[in-house]
Amino acid sequence: MAEIGTDITRAKMLLDSGELVAIPTETVYGLACNALDASAAAKVFAVKNRPEFDPLIVHVPDLQRAHSYVTAIPAKAKLLAENFWPGPLTLVLQKKSLIPDLVSAGLDTVGIRCPAHPLTKRLLETLEYPLAAPSANPFGYVSPTAATHVNDQLGRKIEYILDGGPSFIGLESTIVGFEGDIPVVYRLGGLSLESIEELIGTVRLMSHSSSNPRSPGQLKSHYSPMKTLVTGDVNTLIKQYQGKRLGVLTFKDDYNTGQQIILSATGSLDEAARNLFSALRTFDEMDIEIIIAEFVPETGLGLAINDRLRRASSGLR
Ligand code: TXA
Ligand code: MG
Repeated sequence: MAEIGTDITRAKMLLDSGELVAIPTETVYGLACNALDASAAAKVFAVKNRPEFDPLIVHVPDLQRAHSYVTAIPAKAKLLAENFWPGPLTLVLQKKSLIPDLVSAGLDTVGIRCPAHPLTKRLLETLEYPLAAPSANPFGYVSPTAATHVNDQLGRKIEYILDGGPSFIGLESTIVGFEGDIPVVYRLGGLSLESIEELIGTVRLMSHSSSNPRSPGQLKSHYSPMKTLVTGDVNTLIKQYQGKRLGVLTFKDDYNTGQQIILSATGSLDEAARNLFSALRTFDEMDIEIIIAEFVPETGLGLAINDRLRRASSGLR
């Protein structure tokens, strides 16, 4: 298994020599490599079993550094970066040729983000290159929100996991691109739509069921646990699946069933987001057959939580 620790010097040594290191971020853990090194990036695709049409996000320590890798930053993108970086926001911008084609999956754009985790921020500041890092899970599975999640699935394939504790936000970054001047959200995530629209006005939300997506995070069946997950009214579903061994995932209510995880007893959507992925992993490890999940209110991070539940329910089985 991989070694888990907080040694930035060790992480830097591995990255400098073209190896992979798992890194903590406020959203989810990433599987990082030197973003300017195509052969290091090839290892990321291999370890994750990720198709090459799925581009990687490039992580930088600050907005200043982002200018080195993109040809232009439109006014609305600049406003977003100034207000929400470091934070759970990825901007899709026109790339410079210094970003290898493998990293951007042949697109002329690159997804770029400045993460808010202090350990990873310090690491990024000591490096002479940005870090390409997709979520540190096998392709299609739920993203990791703790070092142990990474170790469970990828520990045999990588040497070192930088441990920054549980991810504070718990959902992947919100991805925003631009079609002409129009901002488009490619993936709902840890930065709410309301916060974005308050700053730059109405944005277009891309549909999530495309089979030929601009952003594979839009694939309908993605972010899925191994167990069958069904969504809807909990009481109805419990009746419908009577006789099966059930795991019940609720927002805030206690349904008094055996295997139940309440995402936030106080009804906080931020807390529910933080707990969602580890709850799905817990159910995958439990002796149950079906996960029953209810949707949360469609506001704030609720939109992204429901999006992940919908995708989880269309299954990787
Ligand atoms: O919070 C996050 O974004 C985490 C942490 C580690 O930063 N990363 C993450 O990466 O979720 P990943 O690879 O699991 O998901 C990245 C998504 C993919 O669906 C990818 O297609 C999309 O970002 N993406 C990357 N570059 C893009 C581009 N140029 N145009 C459109 N979508 C892009
Ligand atoms: Mg991912």
